[in-house]
Amino acid sequence: MQKSYYEKPRYKLYQANCLDILKELPENSVDMIFADPPYFLSSGSFTCQNGKMVSVKKGDWDLSNGTKKNFEFHVEWIKACRRVLKPNGTIWISGTYHSVYQCGFALEVNKYHFLNDIAWFKPNASPNLSCRFFTASHETLLWAKKGERAKHTFNYEQMKNGDWTEDQLKKPGLQMRSVWSINTPKPIEKKFGKHPTQKSFDLLKRIVMASTNKGDLILDPFTGSSTTGLAAYLYGRNFIGIDTEKQYLDLSIKRFEELDKNMKNKQQSFIKNNYENNYKNNSDK
Ligand SMILES: C[S@@+](CC[C@H](N)C(=O)[O-])C[C@H]1O[C@@H](n2cnc3c(N)ncnc32)[C@H](O)[C@@H]1O
Repeated sequence: MQKSYYEKPRYKLYQANCLDILKELPENSVDMIFADPPYFLSSGSFTCQNGKMVSVKKGDWDLSNGTKKNFEFHVEWIKACRRVLKPNGTIWISGTYHSVYQCGFALEVNKYHFLNDIAWFKPNASPNLSCRFFTASHETLLWAKKGERAKHTFNYEQMKNGDWTEDQLKKPGLQMRSVWSINTPKPIEKKFGKHPTQKSFDLLKRIVMASTNKGDLILDPFTGSSTTGLAAYLYGRNFIGIDTEKQYLDLSIKRFEELDKNMKNKQQSFIKNNYENNYKNNSDK
């Protein structure tokens, strides 16, 4: 097995093409996969971020190789994920229309069974500069299991009755629905540096809480700044993250070490200010 780039109890990172690590991991060993693959939308054009014009190039890893090759890539990594997922495990895939239909079809080709497609509505999404079409303000999250009969984890009560006050659409005490209103990452989540497609901690918290239990193993094959890893670690799960880019793994390490230090020192106020209002140390709420 390839040597890890960084390893602490419950938190491991690999610098590699995810396909190389996925083929080395044991079969049926992972409880949940969260994957935020390249959307392949980088080009030479511009978009508006915080009122400024910025180039639409996230990195070479996000450049499109054409529809057919992009699709083949999604089929391949989604197939590799199926091998490592436990029989009752689940996979989440995030994307916009640039990639999510391809990923959805790739899930079907690999015989997964869909549980939900979640619309992640971003109330604070950047405005559209061209004013020639609607302002993109959501992403889609696909959630699937290995087969129709698989007994997947869904923490229904916690979704229904938990404190989800960051979401203006979630009504207290009513079922959690498939449209989630969650802001883009807070500035404090980027204090060690920016990943161009960083996910919100609140989004990953919800995914981890909904579909895993304490002690479960969560894998993120495109870990970036490891938002998934932070949510996994904070709530007592185990984590493996993979990324090709050293700079993102170094960012992941800084984020992890700060969280770990504050958890060990039982710094409730740090966790409250940086992550959430209702964290109880060692809780599995
Ligand atoms: C959309 S970003 C993920 C961002 C992440 N969810 C976060 O919160 O920071 C996709 C990541 O996949 C990485 N990547 C692209 N192709 C990869 C591959 N074949 N194997 C592993 N990582 C890859 C990129 O370097 C990038 O960091």
